[in-house]
Formats: sequence, C-alpha cells, structure tokens
Amino acid sequence: MPAPEALLAWLATPALLTVALVLSGPWRLSDSPLPRSLVRELERRQQDLSRLEAAADAGARAGAFPRRRAPLAAADLLGCSALKEVTSVSFVGSGITKRVLRATLPSSGEEIALKSVHWAGNDVSRCVQRYGHPGGCYRLAAYKLLQEAVLMQSLDHPGIVKLRGRCYDRSSAPEMKVVTMLELGTPLEMINLLQTPWEERFKICLDLVELLYYLANSPLGSIVLLDFQTRQFVMVNGSLKVTDLDDVSTKEPSCQLDHDCTLEFPTKRFSLRCGMHKRCEGINEKKNLFNAYRYFFTYLLPHTAPLVLQPLLKDILNATGNLRFGANETLRAFQKVLHLYKSGLYLQKKTTYLKDYVALKGFQSRDAEDYKCWPSYHHLGCMLSVHNPEEAASICSSHPQCQHFIITPRRTWTGRPLALFQSNFSDLIPEGNMVVYIKRSAFSGSL
Ligand SMILES: Nc1ncnc2c1ncn2[C@@H]1O[C@H](COP(=O)(O)OP(=O)(O)O)[C@@H](O)[C@H]1O
Ligand SMILES: *[C@@H]1O[C@H](CO)[C@@H](O)[C@H](O)[C@H]1NC(C)=O
Ligand SMILES: *[C@@H]1O[C@H](CO)[C@@H](O)[C@H](O)[C@H]1NC(C)=O
Ligand SMILES: *[C@@H]1O[C@H](CO)[C@@H](O)[C@H](O)[C@H]1NC(C)=O
Ligand SMILES: *[C@@H]1O[C@H](CO)[C@@H](O)[C@H](O)[C@H]1NC(C)=O
Ligand SMILES: [Mg+2]
Repeated sequence: MPAPEALLAWLATPALLTVALVLSGPWRLSDSPLPRSLVRELERRQQDLSRLEAAADAGARAGAFPRRRAPLAAADLLGCSALKEVTSVSFVGSGITKRVLRATLPSSGEEIALKSVHWAGNDVSRCVQRYGHPGGCYRLAAYKLLQEAVLMQSLDHPGIVKLRGRCYDRSSAPEMKVVTMLELGTPLEMINLLQTPWEERFKICLDLVELLYYLANSPLGSIVLLDFQTRQFVMVNGSLKVTDLDDVSTKEPSCQLDHDCTLEFPTKRFSLRCGMHKRCEGINEKKNLFNAYRYFFTYLLPHTAPLVLQPLLKDILNATGNLRFGANETLRAFQKVLHLYKSGLYLQKKTTYLKDYVALKGFQSRDAEDYKCWPSYHHLGCMLSVHNPEEAASICSSHPQCQHFIITPRRTWTGRPLALFQSNFSDLIPEGNMVVYIKRSAFSGSL
C-alpha cells in the first residue's frame, strides 16, 4: 500500500501514472478475499496499463510525442486539491463504465468534466453479479479510467479530449477514489445536427477524418476505437473530440490466413489481407473508417450539399462504405472538397444575378424578425453563408420574399461571410457602413 507521501509524490511526478491497484488498493471496500479469477483479470489490466505506459514513455523519449512542448506537461496537471475546491458540480452523462460530472474551477471560473467509475453502470454490475466483490469490481473499472487517462495524456491531437488532471485519493468516498479531470464538452445531438447547415455538418465529418488519420498513424501504432458510437464524442468549442478511450486497441490481430482477417458489421463484411508480419494490416484503420461512414458520413455528409460537390461526396461515401479508401485517401478527398468549397470553385458561373440589385452603402440591420429560411444561422431571420455578393444575389433571387440582403462581418469556420436576407425595409437603418443590396424590382413598390 503506498504511503501518503508516496501518493503525493505520485501526483506531482511528471512520469505517467503507475498505480498498482491489483492487490494493494489503498481503500477497503470489502475485506473479503478477491476471487482468484478476478485477481487474474486485475493482473491482466495492470499488465495492459503498464505496457501502455511503457509504450507512451518510449514514444516520449524518442521524441515521437510532442508532449514536452504540449501546453500541459504532466507537472501542470490538476491534482486532488483542485477536486476539493470545485464548485457548481452537476451531472452530465454516463455510459456503461463511467459517470461524468461538470464542475467549475474557482480560480479561473473554467468548467471541466470529472470522470469517475459508474457504480450503477453495466460494467460494474455485471462484474459484481459474476464475482460478488464490489471492491474488486470497482478496481477493474478504475483501470479503464486510468488507461484512458494515459492515452489522453500521451496522444496529442485536437480531436482527442485533453486531460486536465487526475486524482487518486484513498480518503474520499468510494466512488470518487479515482477521478480524471478533462476538457468539458457537450454531447452530440444527431437530431439537431441534421438541422444545421451543411458547412457545419461537413466540419464535424472533417474533424473526425483528421482524428482517424492521426489514430491510423499514431506514435503508438494504428489505434482502433472498439466501441465506436456517436455518444463517445463531444463538441468542444465547435470541434468534434473523442472522449471515450477506455476501449481501444493499438494492436492489429495476428493471422495465418486472409480468412482470419474478416471485418464484420451488422450490414457488411469485408475480407482483408493477412500481411507480411502475420498481422491483419490496416484492419484497425478500416474498422474506424467504416464506423465513421455508418455513424457519421451517411447522416451528415450528403444532404443539402452544394450541387457541384455532390458527386465528390457520393464518391467519399462509396469509397468509405466499401473500404476502397484508407484514412490517407479519405483525408485527401475531404481536403479537396474543402478547397473547392472555400475557393468558391463549386459555383456554377452561368447567370449573373447581381446586376438585378442596387448596392447602397451606409446601412445596418435591426435585430428584428423577418422571413425565415432553412437552415438559417439566425433564429429571427434568414442568414446563410455565401462565397460573395453574387452568390447571395442568386439566393435572394430564388426566395420570393427576399427584397434585399446585407453581407455581414460575421464569418463561418471556413471564413465565408454570413449574408442576411430580408423582405421588410423597416429592418434597414440608414447608418453604419454596411452595403445593402436591393432588388431593382423592389424600387417600383415599397421604396
Ligand atoms: N469531456 C466531456 N464533456 C462532456 N460530456 C462528456 C465528456 N466525456 C463524456 N461525457 C458524457 O458522458 C458519457 C459517458 O462518458 P464515457 O467516457 O463515454 O463513459 P463510458 O466509458 O461509460 O461509455 C458520454 O456518453 C458523454 O455523453
Ligand atoms: C475556440 O475556437 C475559436 C475558433 O476556432 C478559436 O479562435 C478560439 O481560440 C477557441 N477557443 C479556445 C478556448 O480554444
Ligand atoms: C460504388 O462505386 C462502384 C464503382 O466504383 C460501383 O460499382 C458501386 O455500385 C458503387 N456503390 C454504391 C453503393 O454507390
Ligand atoms: C499515410 O500517410 C502517412 C503520412 O504521410 C504515411 O506515413 C503512411 O505510410 C500512409 N499510409 C498509407 C497506408 O499509405
Ligand atoms: C415590417 O417591420 C415593421 C417594424 O418592425 C412592422 O411593424 C411591420 O409589420 C413589418 N412588416 C411586415 C410585412 O412584416
Ligand atoms: Mg462511452
């Protein structure tokens, strides 16, 4: 059992966490001896964790990880003392293994997520049913939390939730013995996402592809997310991040024949090749990609995309849906779509609509209710992202209600300006310095 000083040293050490929970847990939930089979499971988890730490350390020493330069070196991580000070604690969510709370750090007012073992979750309850030993089952689940913390600390990518701190405290209530502190996000709401503009849905898919590219080429090897579901992801400041890393593998299965490398999904199965090193090479990357296709791309990518981009998006769907593409090709295809979109090359330059408009400088818009369109960036009216005034004019001309539009200074993540389309001239104020484009046909009527 580690002495308190050892524990403190551990919390302060820049080395990765090395905790032996197997037999020497510092808490005593139950004095009954651990069943042998549970001890074996705990030992296996301990070995997995040690292996992962060793790999992470080796990577750090070899300079494979930019951890030394990362904004949060181990010494900067929050510890148990931060946990004692947090305020405004409330429930965020839970899965089969972990429970997540949100809390505020009083020093900065910043909110973080606190992960701990979920006693009432399926993972612990099933274990207790099987072994009848709550204390041992808690430790088993705590290993998952620790494994996740090691991964979050060693991997460095904007698509992975950042570890902000951790606490391993024998004096606290049983369910808070091991706590990790993370960047706080908001769960993905697929239903809401379906109603957001294509540009925003494309961003989520691109964020995911960048993450899968990183995972496929990570310093720990090709990493597969074994429990790939939308609820393992959260949005942080407009970016998609994976938050559940307790069920991943950095190893590709060994094989004798191609037959050993089948990848099965409810709707499809793929036969991959048994590679030179008698491993199913590429299987981790492909599994992630097909899951991205079935949980994200099919829902978020195609509908209401700009017409000219649709064939490219169809090809991405086809190529990930039948695993013709790996992570590299998929990323390239996404970057191509992004480039076409940003540069406005997707616009069909046929008719010019802008000549039907008069541009007047020196206006701004009142924040008033006007006609709505879908999917608007503003709840009071019709606000859409455009490449330039010409595209805005073509949109205004296609809306019967539209009489005028303003290119606002607001920008989307791609840097495109947002245009506000309106019908009511009372919404215009003759001051400020924005340009309003008024339909020529409107002059005969209301002006
Ligand atoms: N950093 C976070 N910020 C906000 N919510 C989170 C965060 N991490 C997880 N959650 C929420 O908590 C749930 C459970 O967390 P997760 O790590 O997936 O646990 P489990 O391993 O039990 O599935 C997630 O589905 C998500 O809704
Ligand atoms: C949030 O995202 C914006 C836009 O991408 C960025 O400028 C800003 O620095 C981010 N904020 C934080 C706290 O990361
Ligand atoms: C995918 O593309 C191939 C040709 O590249 C075609 O034969 C196949 O039917 C397509 N599948 C789907 C689902 O679009
Ligand atoms: C993908 O790209 C990375 C970085 O350029 C490279 O190291 C890797 O070998 C590529 N993978 C495949 C399967 O081509
Ligand atoms: C235009 O705006 C004015 C002022 O807000 C309002 O009184 C009027 O009803 C609006 N007209 C229409 C057609 O919505
Ligand atoms: Mg989860």
